[in-house]
Amino acid sequence: MKSTPLAEWLLAQGLTSDAGQRNAMPMNRRLFERIREAILHGQLQPGQKLPASRELANELGVGRNTVMHAYERLDDEGYTASQVGSGTFVNNTVPDPTVLPRLQQASDPRTLTQQASPASALSDRALRLIARAGASEYQVGAFVPGVPDVAHFPHAIWNRLVAKTCRNPSADLMGYGSSRGYPPLKRALAEYLRLARGVRCDDDQVVITQGAHQALDLCARVLADPGDEAWIEDPCYWGARSVFDAAGLKLRAIPVDQDGLLPPAQGATQKGEPRIIFVTPSHQYPSGVVMSLARRRLLLEIARRAGAWIIEDDYDSEFRYRNLPLPSLQGLDAHGRTIYIGSFSKSLYPGLRLGFMVLPEPLVDAFTRSQSELYRGGHLLLQSALAEFIRDGHYAAHVRRMRKIYGQRQALLAAELKRQLGGRGRVLGSEAGLHLTFALNDATDTAVEATALERGIIARPLSPYYALPEFAPHGLVLGYGDVADERIKPAVATLAAALDAADAQKHRHHRQ
Ligand SMILES: Cc1ncc(COP(=O)(O)O)c(C=O)c1O
Repeated sequence: MKSTPLAEWLLAQGLTSDAGQRNAMPMNRRLFERIREAILHGQLQPGQKLPASRELANELGVGRNTVMHAYERLDDEGYTASQVGSGTFVNNTVPDPTVLPRLQQASDPRTLTQQASPASALSDRALRLIARAGASEYQVGAFVPGVPDVAHFPHAIWNRLVAKTCRNPSADLMGYGSSRGYPPLKRALAEYLRLARGVRCDDDQVVITQGAHQALDLCARVLADPGDEAWIEDPCYWGARSVFDAAGLKLRAIPVDQDGLLPPAQGATQKGEPRIIFVTPSHQYPSGVVMSLARRRLLLEIARRAGAWIIEDDYDSEFRYRNLPLPSLQGLDAHGRTIYIGSFSKSLYPGLRLGFMVLPEPLVDAFTRSQSELYRGGHLLLQSALAEFIRDGHYAAHVRRMRKIYGQRQALLAAELKRQLGGRGRVLGSEAGLHLTFALNDATDTAVEATALERGIIARPLSPYYALPEFAPHGLVLGYGDVADERIKPAVATLAAALDAADAQKHRHHRQ
């Protein structure tokens, strides 16, 4: 720009006649942005001197303060350096070519042009995660699985406890906190879990997490290395599969029968293989199977012999409708191989993002240190309110009330499915939780999902929960937690219409 004075260039760029949005900006900001552009695009070169502020102001017909403000900001952000007495100079911020890697060959899949397409810019891990993503975009209404009905949440009590905690909190409640979680909440939880779930633990073994997913992620990272084998259930909760896969574990899908996960004969071939066994014994997700006592004992013995860790995800055990709940698998474990995981996502609300783990004593220190390193802590105000909520009996009362409501919805849904769709499949796993599974006789579940969605109904297909969806049984995973009683009958009627539409499409397709 030596031959073109800066003022002339700025005027040619329309500095003082900018229309639209830029005009809404104060002049000093416009001037700053234009000079910055000139530096970044090379019109102003490193070392070049900017005109004195008075001179530039005169040439542009603006106040001197305007130019001085723009120059100050250029200095502050490192584009220029001002030396008293000698002026303002453009800094050298151009990347040094000698330290830049050379551009890769065009045949390299990660060349710059190909990176412009997001897929090739992503890691293999992210591509796998996205290809098999299970989280639903839609989280309300019939029949989204696993979502509680927050209309019945005791807002007044909860708000009072949260307001009380937030009114004048101590400094520790505003900090990261001890990574083990807020001690009164750990105490309240340990007491609750010993009584309600037969978990063997004292307060110190309880670690508060931001939901079950974070607990699973910690388990994967603290207990296994990339390439280590993890057994998952087949079908499996998509969240566990995603978390373990993203941690680089080698996943082995183990079939689930009517007694729960069925370990292969001699499946654990050597010590340390598998490292992790993930199970949902109280209510298998998504099939609904409850693991038998014999299978629990077998699994514990395998874990002991192989030196594996069992991860017991007890995500919705609060809601059991007929028989008394079987106590936790952890409670049966005499050898400290089980990590118990729980969540408040179903029993309170998912956005709370609070869950917990009960760890074997020797693992507590490693887990809490790792948790601090990876995720820090926090949420202590909520943890404090929750501790009081549990201690004062509101949690147990809420769970009791919701158990009745969900039990009724579950019975209604099962009855309507039998009545309206009896000839097309059968209901599985209706003892507990917030969802049931409708095994389809001959419809294609992914096709039904699409025709149901067109009619405003969420009908999760069962087959993608399997390791090999193309060989999997077809069914629909139907949540009733967030469906009011009076919505169930019409929603099942809409689902029946969606099944008819999927059938019609299939027949049309066959005829073509
Ligand atoms: C099997 C299973 N585990 C855990 C969770 C809850 O995870 P989080 O506590 O991270 O919300 C769910 C929720 O759908 C689930 O289905």
